[in-house]
Amino acid sequence: SATLYPSQESFVQCFSSHLQPANVTSNFVLTTNSSDYSSVLQSSIRNHRFLNNSTPKPLLIVTPLHVSHVQSAIFCAKGLGLEVRVRSGGHDYEGLSFAADVPFLIIDLFNLRSISVDIENESAWVESGALLGELYYKIAEKSKLYGFPAGSCSTVGVGGHISGGGFGTLFRKYGLAADNVIDAKIVDVNGKVLTRKSMGEDLFWAIRGGGGASFGVIVSWKVRIVPVPEKVTVFNLQYTLEQGASRLLHRWQSIAHELDEDIFLHAALEVVNNNATSAGSNKTVRVSFVSLYLGGVEKLLPLMQESFPELGLMQENCTEVTWIESVLYFAGFPITKDSINMLLDRSTQYEGFFKAKSDYVTKPVSETGLEGLLRILLEEKKPLLILTPYGGKMNDISYSEIAFPHRKGNIYKIQYLALWDLEDETDQQIAWMRRLYKYMSNYVSKAPRAAYLNYRDLDLGRNNNIGNTSFAQANNWGLKYFKNNFKRLVRVKTAVDPGNFFRNEQSIPVLPSHR
Ligand code: FDA
Repeated sequence: SATLYPSQESFVQCFSSHLQPANVTSNFVLTTNSSDYSSVLQSSIRNHRFLNNSTPKPLLIVTPLHVSHVQSAIFCAKGLGLEVRVRSGGHDYEGLSFAADVPFLIIDLFNLRSISVDIENESAWVESGALLGELYYKIAEKSKLYGFPAGSCSTVGVGGHISGGGFGTLFRKYGLAADNVIDAKIVDVNGKVLTRKSMGEDLFWAIRGGGGASFGVIVSWKVRIVPVPEKVTVFNLQYTLEQGASRLLHRWQSIAHELDEDIFLHAALEVVNNNATSAGSNKTVRVSFVSLYLGGVEKLLPLMQESFPELGLMQENCTEVTWIESVLYFAGFPITKDSINMLLDRSTQYEGFFKAKSDYVTKPVSETGLEGLLRILLEEKKPLLILTPYGGKMNDISYSEIAFPHRKGNIYKIQYLALWDLEDETDQQIAWMRRLYKYMSNYVSKAPRAAYLNYRDLDLGRNNNIGNTSFAQANNWGLKYFKNNFKRLVRVKTAVDPGNFFRNEQSIPVLPSHR
């Protein structure tokens, strides 16, 4: 096997000397020589853009079995001047949890994923390495009458997701995952384990929406689990342009955010083959109106008839299921007797390349605006736009309650995705995505043009690659992700990590005078 770099050897030595009993060689510190280095590195990379030789690789991967291993890893990395990247589910859109242009190591938390659900106290402790699917499964195992308001994809990691906000089908009723955090354990830059009480309300505020990576390693969250009815209803109604999709989409913009908070109705836009007989073009846009209603179909139908009759929802379009079955539905799994086990499957579901961006919309896009958008979509083979309605509980929570700032005033959020299969399409796809984003600038939030941290986009700007974050540069994306909360995040960062140890391409900077 190849010789190790001095920094790799020194880290292994330092780390072993911290183990109890000392000097036991651990098999949970992987060097580039370890046989499972590559498989562990690749295990949670979700985007093929980062599965190639040009993506920088870590010198080491530490896979802690215990919180003390996180503490030792931080201590040793700091001493050796190695940068640290923390990975929970690995879904970061720009690969910041597992790639860096400087010598670095990954603390990969997949072994720290225990979950304990306490129905009586309506709470759960969940370790950061757990995936959303595992959390939902564990809650449902204890009670079918509880759920948790977080994202739809079961392989998303609790660590990154909750620290960046985290929304899903329950967020109009209960807010974000981060709104439902009641305590957390974090290892700080000094290797100390802090809880809500010992970290203080400023840091506790920052890690709920401000991204964990700038502040430390969050090892677990205590969350509030929320009541769900025994019976919920799902539907997916699809219309192509030829079937009137653009008119419906235009209407949807004024309706979805005003609906009862028990109804979540998002719209997904894709390009599909056009089967209409009179067609001129062989491609069309299909809009899927997909919904979760927290109740039975007998109540949903009159509600929809009153608020959105144009959608044409009929009883036969609806399926009554349990809440956990609705999780399967939104994750794209079949609803069968055993399919709940799919929520425990950690393997990658998406096998391709993607680039994403996000926008917040504060007033409906005009019909002309939408027409232009649809034309740009039709230029591509596999674009996907997901429009998520705001309103409901999101209007009731103040923008400064936690670090996540996007609340009242937003009618919906857009996620733009370009998806492709071959590496050599990458440049063209990214150029297309940027063109689409530029086009949308007239129709979305302005000054700042807001963006969602969990849909990380390095086009918004990045820190200098010299180990120091620049306050002026960080303002560019900081205001987009955090609006007025950015300033408080900078103050918290300056107080808890003045040496800027926890840094990455878009980490929160330290105030210049404190460097
Ligand atoms: P990853 O491990 O890559 O971490 C993301 C960031 O958080 C990195 O900067 C990382 O260093 C940091 N971090 C991770 N764990 C940490 C810890 N324990 N302590 C400190 N910092 C930590 N979002 C959403 O709101 N709703 C949704 O429905 C979906 N759906 C969805 C589907 C798919 C297929 C993808 C790829 C992504 C989503 N997302 C989403 C976005 C998702 O919320 C976002 O990518 C999260 O940051 C992912 O968290 P992971 O832990 O998986 O990522």
